[in-house]
Amino acid sequence: MLPLMLAKRRKLNCIQPRLIAFMLFTMTSGTHLKESALELMTKYPLVDGHNDLALQLRIFRNNRLRQIDLHNFSNVATDINRLRAGHVGGQMFSAYVMCPAQDKDAVRLTLEQIDVIRRMCSEYPEFELVTTAQALMSSKKIACLISIEGGHSIDSSLATLRMFYQLGVRSMALTHTCNTPWAESSSKLYKVYSRKNNSLTDFGKAVVLEMNRLGMMIDLSHSSWDTAEAVLHFSKAPVIFSHSSAFAVCGHERNVPDQLLRMLKENTGVVMVNLHSGFLACGDKGNVSIAADHFDHIKNVIGAESIGIGGDYDGAKMFPHGLEDVSTYPALIQELLRRNWTEEELADLLRRNFLRVFHRVEEVRDEMELVHPGEEEIPLLEAANPCPIVYIAKSRSQTL
Ligand SMILES: *[C@@H]1O[C@H](CO)[C@@H](O)[C@H](O)[C@H]1NC(C)=O
Ligand SMILES: *[C@@H]1O[C@H](CO)[C@@H](O)[C@H](O)[C@H]1NC(C)=O
Ligand SMILES: *[C@@H]1O[C@H](CO)[C@@H](O)[C@H](O)[C@H]1NC(C)=O
Ligand SMILES: *[C@@H]1O[C@H](CO)[C@@H](O)[C@H](O)[C@H]1NC(C)=O
Ligand SMILES: [Zn+2]
Repeated sequence: MLPLMLAKRRKLNCIQPRLIAFMLFTMTSGTHLKESALELMTKYPLVDGHNDLALQLRIFRNNRLRQIDLHNFSNVATDINRLRAGHVGGQMFSAYVMCPAQDKDAVRLTLEQIDVIRRMCSEYPEFELVTTAQALMSSKKIACLISIEGGHSIDSSLATLRMFYQLGVRSMALTHTCNTPWAESSSKLYKVYSRKNNSLTDFGKAVVLEMNRLGMMIDLSHSSWDTAEAVLHFSKAPVIFSHSSAFAVCGHERNVPDQLLRMLKENTGVVMVNLHSGFLACGDKGNVSIAADHFDHIKNVIGAESIGIGGDYDGAKMFPHGLEDVSTYPALIQELLRRNWTEEELADLLRRNFLRVFHRVEEVRDEMELVHPGEEEIPLLEAANPCPIVYIAKSRSQTL
């Protein structure tokens, strides 16, 4: 299992049988599993797919970072002390703005969330903002990645998407709980852009292609299954579900059904399991055991090389007993060790799968070097922005 345990087992060969039995018993006991989990996570620090601390900074302090000490921020589930205790070595921080901002001030609000993540990750020496797989892999700090949660943030503009990339954004979920003019949400919470059999429009395909070209990860958490399927067929690069769990274990619309898991495996992407009780235990609070059931299920269906963790701390409210905040990840790893996950499988789960996907996304970007930046525009009739300003040159309109 672990090198340490293997070493111990080897040494045991020359000790008396009764002693062996006793030591084997203590090795599988809770204390030993706990130590093994911590040791494993020291060797393979977790890279987590989704955290909404930035949303809480907005809600509690309107992003005034100087009013808080992020080492110890007791109102929330995430702070530096607890990230350290949880052995988190990399975190995708979500620059999330709520769906009602769609077609209004979503772009400005997204910029402000990117700003607060960039500030947080540069003002605290424990953090390091990274934008490449290499930098994420070699970081000795808590590496910060910036993601966007919801395509409404780009206001149907490929140029805006490109500028977000320039600001360090390396992943975008195509929708949140609202449809965009070009992709469909798993949620029917907002009745905007309702569609019939058009889960990824031509403009949506242009967004996917532009993300492939830029080297930005496509995140299918929150997308409808139809949209997810369309993207899985269309994308040239592996995709992620940054914070979604297994539908077969808890039948919530936010979770991934087995048929999509199989397509994801073919795509070589990764599903990062969400630890929110609502998606794990479907209404109950649950405990670490139900969380582990999701990991076991996904491993059984598509293998440990397709799994990660996307805790959703500070986005969701209710978490299982024993998994209440970002300091608790070792308890989950301990449970997976108890369920006989191997060191290789856990190393994949903790960070190597995500790093592989990120690296491959960068390779696809390099392979598309000769492709020009997308110049597609969304047809005015498809986007309900109430007051778009359209520039038309006078001379051109006169000659037309
Ligand atoms: C964190 O702050 C709380 C009060 O906000 C305090 O009770 C606690 O001791 C602090 N913990 C650390 C580790 O500084
Ligand atoms: C939706 O459109 C696709 C492609 O145009 C077509 O293959 C499919 O049968 C349609 N599905 C439904 C339910 O109409
Ligand atoms: C977790 O919850 C399940 C179902 O309620 C229960 O059977 C199990 O004993 C619990 N496990 C722990 C470690 O509390
Ligand atoms: C783990 O493997 C051991 C040895 O093969 C076995 O006895 C035990 O039942 C397994 N535990 C689980 C939870 O599968
Ligand atoms: Zn979310």
